[in-house]
Amino acid sequence: MSTGRTLHVGLIGAHNWAESAHLPGYAAHPQVELTAICDIEPDRARALGERFGAKKVYTDPDQMFADPDIEMVDVCTPTHTHLPLSLGAIAAGKHVLSEKPLHTQAAPAFDAARRAEQRGVRTKLGFTFRYSPAIRQIKQWIEDGTLGEIFHIHGFEQNSQWLDPAEPLRQIAPDTPRDKLIPASIVGYGSHLIDLMRWLGGEFGAVTSTMKNFIPERIVRGEEGMQRIPVEDGAAALVEYKNGAQGLLQTSFIAVGNYPGVEIRVYGSKGAAVARLIEEFGVAETLTLARADAVEFQKIDLPESALPPGTTLNTPWPELYYRNLVRHFVDEILEGRPEECTFYDGAMSQQIVDAIILAHNERRWVNIETGDL
Ligand SMILES: NC(=O)c1ccc[n+]([C@@H]2O[C@H](COP(=O)([O-])OP(=O)(O)OC[C@H]3O[C@@H](n4cnc5c(N)ncnc54)[C@H](O)[C@@H]3O)[C@@H](O)[C@H]2O)c1
Repeated sequence: MSTGRTLHVGLIGAHNWAESAHLPGYAAHPQVELTAICDIEPDRARALGERFGAKKVYTDPDQMFADPDIEMVDVCTPTHTHLPLSLGAIAAGKHVLSEKPLHTQAAPAFDAARRAEQRGVRTKLGFTFRYSPAIRQIKQWIEDGTLGEIFHIHGFEQNSQWLDPAEPLRQIAPDTPRDKLIPASIVGYGSHLIDLMRWLGGEFGAVTSTMKNFIPERIVRGEEGMQRIPVEDGAAALVEYKNGAQGLLQTSFIAVGNYPGVEIRVYGSKGAAVARLIEEFGVAETLTLARADAVEFQKIDLPESALPPGTTLNTPWPELYYRNLVRHFVDEILEGRPEECTFYDGAMSQQIVDAIILAHNERRWVNIETGDL
């Protein structure tokens, strides 16, 4: 139920992803005022500020944190800045939405989740695909028993974004050691996928994996020319869930197919569901369902109410999913609803990515500890 109150938001990082995904979400929510936009590049902050009607423009995040008018901060900057900016917002008593990953190690991400809890502010991590209408329907089918006892969960996040070695890869930090395999698709794509598989299936008990470099020479963004670099461009893992279900997952930068290339298949004792979040012929996603007594998969058309107001399945996926994510976070804050997809979930996902890398490096199963706040 709506409280009729307005939430005052400040966004940091006024560039591509903010423009195509985050800012349309605030513009579409009737109870949001975009109070400020901040970017170290003043022209960017001014341009998007004007376009999306921000009341103020900042170039220093600390000044924005000190602004008493702002209640929630959105961190949409490059990866290495997510944690320090989120900690700054938490310390200032603001609710925070951060792009993923919060940090490339689990411990600092758990620490940020703890600090937010102590400070009494809410967090959300930008795990875009949790806000797919098809994925949320599968979650509901698991919870209401439509699928019965869950046996298998298969997850894929793969596309051919970097099949062409001349397409500059942007994930490699300059100080990364280059004498051994550099985990990449499991970090960039795996964090999303693992979050989906945990959300749908429960906590992971143990993982084992194999990771590989398939394209030996590439261009890396910001570096000169083609170079030999052992980037992990394909990873596969097996999962034992704590509740006894089995999982398998694949991440790939080089599997032919369109963006974002997420597919989730859930098989239970009463039914099975497949969601394909792959933009094809202008349609963002498809959902199919089979039942134990009618085993042919049938297409499911979700009601309009499953989509954020004003969108259709022809809305580009970044906007479709982010409008839904923003809508959930704003409504959770304004209506005091339970938290979901928090910094804690981000930290757990990171911990599992680390375990998958360790399993490959040591050729063994690795147990997953459930992190405590
Ligand atoms: N969830 C998803 O599916 C998804 C998809 C695409 C991008 N992303 C993430 O979104 C984030 C932004 O992506 P992008 O492509 O717009 O990045 P970008 O690098 O093009 O833009 C980031 C902006 O942040 C500004 N900035 C950098 N440091 C800053 C600081 N300390 N204070 C204020 N401003 C600062 C830069 O000037 C730039 O304008 C990245 O973390 C990216 O990984 C997520």
